Amino acid sequence: MRCLEAEDIVKELEEKGFLISPRTLKLILNAENPREVADKLIEQADGFVIDVAELESLEKTKVESKKEVIVEKTLFHAIAKDIEADIKLIEKEVQTGEGTVEDFVQYFRNRYEKISAMLRKRAVPITRLLDVREKSNGKVRVIGMLSEKRLTKNGHVFIRLEDLVTSINALVPANNRELIAKAERLMLDEVAAFDGRMSNGLFIINEIIEPDIESMRTVKTIDDDIIFAMLSDLHIGSKLFMKDNFGHMLNWLKGRVGSEKDKQIASRVKYITIAGDICDGIGIYPGQENELEITDIYKQYEVLEQYLVEEIPEYIHVVLIPGNHDAVRNADPQPKLPKELVPRLYEAENVHLLGSPGWAELHGFKLLLYHGTSLADFVSQLPHVTFEKPELFMEEALKKRHVHPYFGGKPVIPQNEDIMVIEETPDIFHTGEAHHNAYCVYRGTVCISSGTWQETTEYQTKQGHKATPAILPIFEAKTGRIKSIHFDREFSVEVVK
Ligand SMILES: [Fe+2]
Ligand SMILES: [Fe+2]
Repeated sequence: MRCLEAEDIVKELEEKGFLISPRTLKLILNAENPREVADKLIEQADGFVIDVAELESLEKTKVESKKEVIVEKTLFHAIAKDIEADIKLIEKEVQTGEGTVEDFVQYFRNRYEKISAMLRKRAVPITRLLDVREKSNGKVRVIGMLSEKRLTKNGHVFIRLEDLVTSINALVPANNRELIAKAERLMLDEVAAFDGRMSNGLFIINEIIEPDIESMRTVKTIDDDIIFAMLSDLHIGSKLFMKDNFGHMLNWLKGRVGSEKDKQIASRVKYITIAGDICDGIGIYPGQENELEITDIYKQYEVLEQYLVEEIPEYIHVVLIPGNHDAVRNADPQPKLPKELVPRLYEAENVHLLGSPGWAELHGFKLLLYHGTSLADFVSQLPHVTFEKPELFMEEALKKRHVHPYFGGKPVIPQNEDIMVIEETPDIFHTGEAHHNAYCVYRGTVCISSGTWQETTEYQTKQGHKATPAILPIFEAKTGRIKSIHFDREFSVEVVK
């Protein structure tokens, strides 16, 4: 019986990050109620060192020596601490557009110019839409922005294409099944190239070419054995924010919990990226106040500051962007969190703020961080994308070279430069919003949807969404592998490839 109890106590102390010597254990077991003594020791521990004086203060213990240290500090050597951070933030200006007609025209013009420049690199001559009517014989390639797309009753896909000067009507014939499937994956307001020929005033499409990212790439790796950890959708302030699980993750990060193998992983974490919905906000949806534990927006961000400044070791650098729940404008592109809201984050040398979408170069890896507000638009327009498969949303955004192409869905504020165009090919693309963990590698780009730290809300249940909370994705820079660490099951730390 005693043996079992001893085993239990040792296991519990180890899980909580304490190491215990056989002698100390013996002292605890000699007490009238060993379980109670162990619990009180854990409760009263200051850090990981407990002096025997504390034992003495507990009633019913039989301890003689006053100098003996009974619980020793765990040995945690953070490998990432010895590796210098290498951070380049690429800040793009988020403007407050007036919403005038000129703003819209300039915004779409800029998008068209940026993406058509990518499509023009393919060494195939481009015909302007204005000239296409005259080229009745022979195949031509045009570039256009989709202003209309619908399925006709005969099963063709009708598309209206626009460029900077004019527009034309185009058709994907019903008998070309493969191309119909491709056309189904086109979104309104995206820019793509189309091969085809004019016939009776209609441009008959026989190939669709999306700008896409470079092919023939493999996942980037480096010699430094560091780890990127990805967070999103914490929803601090919500009653459903899983603070215990989150706290356990932070303890793991500090090397206080988990097996030696788990701690070894924690010791290599050099960067944490956070893809928005960091706080729950207030007044985001009707009845939200009933689901809030912290109803003051400033207090929500104070809690965030405590976590990031006090709980995350300084050698770990954090890059964060906002989401639609955060206290910045609820329209893409979103500016970074303002200084008035998070002064401590601006002071902290290891915390870096960007807007959404945001770009950063960390240890040579080009990162695209985007909350994922446009996910609902992709889901409503593209049959194969769902909230449970956010990796397909990421793949489509990369193909379209735009994180939020559709203008008539989730709010967008137009500005002179369309900073939501994916101008460079990212090595890592990190999003949130889906509350669903998902990973894929698309043409060498590591795509990570980092789930959530909020339990499934009533609203999500009604929408048929099931969250995958408290699972931390990590990317190993040396091996190029993506793993996920579970903090969802009874606080177990489990590595899944
Ligand atoms: Fe969220
Ligand atoms: Fe969100």
